[in-house]
Amino acid sequence: MINYRRFFIKTLLKLGLISLLPGKIFALNDIEDCDITTDDIEGPYYAGNYTNSYNITPFNIDDPAQNFLIISGTVYAEDCKTPIPNAVVEIWHANQGVYDIDTNQYLDSEYEDDFYRGQINTDSAGNYSFLTVLPGKYPNGSYYRPSHIHYKTSYLDTELTTQVYFEGDTSIPIDPWASNPNATNRIISLFTDANNVLNGVFDINLNIKPENINNTYLKEQDKIIKSIWPNPINQNTTIILNKYEKNTQIKIYDINGQIITRKTILGTEIKLMNIIKKPLTKGFYILQISTPNGLKEVKRFIV
Ligand SMILES: [Fe+2]
Repeated sequence: MINYRRFFIKTLLKLGLISLLPGKIFALNDIEDCDITTDDIEGPYYAGNYTNSYNITPFNIDDPAQNFLIISGTVYAEDCKTPIPNAVVEIWHANQGVYDIDTNQYLDSEYEDDFYRGQINTDSAGNYSFLTVLPGKYPNGSYYRPSHIHYKTSYLDTELTTQVYFEGDTSIPIDPWASNPNATNRIISLFTDANNVLNGVFDINLNIKPENINNTYLKEQDKIIKSIWPNPINQNTTIILNKYEKNTQIKIYDINGQIITRKTILGTEIKLMNIIKKPLTKGFYILQISTPNGLKEVKRFIV
């Protein structure tokens, strides 16, 4: 059994991104399809004051019996491209019927109180990530709600409470919240990585103007990548850079940090298909572009 955390850190080291721990390393501005993230019911199990942690399970990552899930994403302003550093992301979810216990019991339980709920501040690029397990289902009257994670994301006076569901969950059509058209963008796909850990990405676009964000990270004029579109990729996926600089390098890694391709690029438009030798298997990939003057930018894309 591979030590996943060590493996993950090794990947980050390889990419020169160790400073992003425990934030997520992938970010993508899907600005062609920009919608403010919709809300969903809070439910009775929100408690607040969660422990600030990446691993919100009681388990060691080496535990082969667990169905681990790494859920990560970026918090953006209403333009879907300005990252929000230092936003607070709180999540909580059920595990094997934990929500069946009434709220008071749940909150009084020392054991359960510490797990399957957590909060994290987004890093300088607006990224967050949590290590948890795939949430269990719990009964709601005569049926089971689909597996879901509750989110509360806040920055200054703006707060969004919502829920994330998982593609292919057969309980979604019978759940009034998950089957609401507003939830469509919150049903995410999951991929299993080489270490048998599920990975999911949920980006959050808050209803807040970019100019109201105290963002000292990448200013617009310093950004290298303008867009990657369409994503998930197809034959036409094109990467567009803000400007061309001689000797700019593009590298693509898989989720485990294995390099797929490395090229020197010759213009501001790069057709993804032209720089990848063989078809990519389904999953997440990391694109890194670095300029000769040391600027580096990393994005995620999905196949
Ligand atoms: Fe719930």
